[in-house]
Amino acid sequence: MPTRNITNPFIEESLGHRFTDKVVLVTGAASGIGRATALRLAAEGAAVWCVDVNTEGVDSTAATIEAAGGTARSSTVDVTDPAACAAAVAAVVEAFGGLDVLCNIAGIGGSAHTLEETPGRFNAMFAVNAFGPFNLIQAALPHLLERGGNVLNLASTAGIIGQAYCAAYCASKHALVGLTKALAVEYGRQGVRFNAVCPGGVNTGLIGAFVPPEGASMSLISRSYLTRDMQEPESVAALIAHIASDEAYYMNGAVVAVDGGTTTG
Ligand SMILES: NC(=O)c1ccc[n+]([C@@H]2O[C@H](COP(=O)([O-])OP(=O)(O)OC[C@H]3O[C@@H](n4cnc5c(N)ncnc54)[C@H](O)[C@@H]3O)[C@@H](O)[C@H]2O)c1
Repeated sequence: MPTRNITNPFIEESLGHRFTDKVVLVTGAASGIGRATALRLAAEGAAVWCVDVNTEGVDSTAATIEAAGGTARSSTVDVTDPAACAAAVAAVVEAFGGLDVLCNIAGIGGSAHTLEETPGRFNAMFAVNAFGPFNLIQAALPHLLERGGNVLNLASTAGIIGQAYCAAYCASKHALVGLTKALAVEYGRQGVRFNAVCPGGVNTGLIGAFVPPEGASMSLISRSYLTRDMQEPESVAALIAHIASDEAYYMNGAVVAVDGGTTTG
């Protein structure tokens, strides 16, 4: 998986430091979109707390940021564990004095014929993709309210349209979009924004979880893809950086696709 050096001069010269003095918590920061987001926000001046179940990966992301002159810490957290999420938020606030942005990026995926889907897999998809963000939001909200912060939930095109052989994943990502909209209404007037980003195919390890099940109809699967090309995680991280920055102060409850046009119909 390609990664980008956070000292990338293009980013530094063209965009400056939209996250100077901001504190950000990024889940799923060990790899893929979460790692790219942690590097991007750190490059723009954020103090970043990186969270993941993958200890080696999340420590490596934080170490990369620190080695490039940024500020980062990491902790091993399973987002399905409310107590661990609360402890992570408490640790961020203790270390950095508050919290401005929560990026819920950790996620899992998988494909199956629906008749062969198991309750265990279905529950696991909801636990990580929907309850995980909820756990972190509950812990983070008091701090976000203090600072007028915002939450970025990483959904998917599967949170906007139906995708064959992905019933559990689609349902969990639609739930995450619903959570985003509900909280945008509930907390918008109190100054906390909630937005969802919905990527189409991104070149990360997660793609391997979406191998079509045996006997799958390719014509049904191809409905979900307008292009054959995938985007790199940095493309999604760039969009997240905009929405999470103060430049996007009027974006609340938005569900933004970055999918090469797949969800246009
Ligand atoms: N790759 C794509 O094409 C694509 C498209 C749309 C949406 N997404 C979403 O993007 C997000 C990031 O995925 P990615 O593509 O970067 O894949 P990835 O596998 O590289 O990253 C997912 C990260 O989440 C972590 N994670 C999984 N379960 C966890 C848990 N219980 N607690 C804490 N961390 C956990 C993993 O260890 C991993 O580091 C996911 O929510 C995924 O659903 C991905």
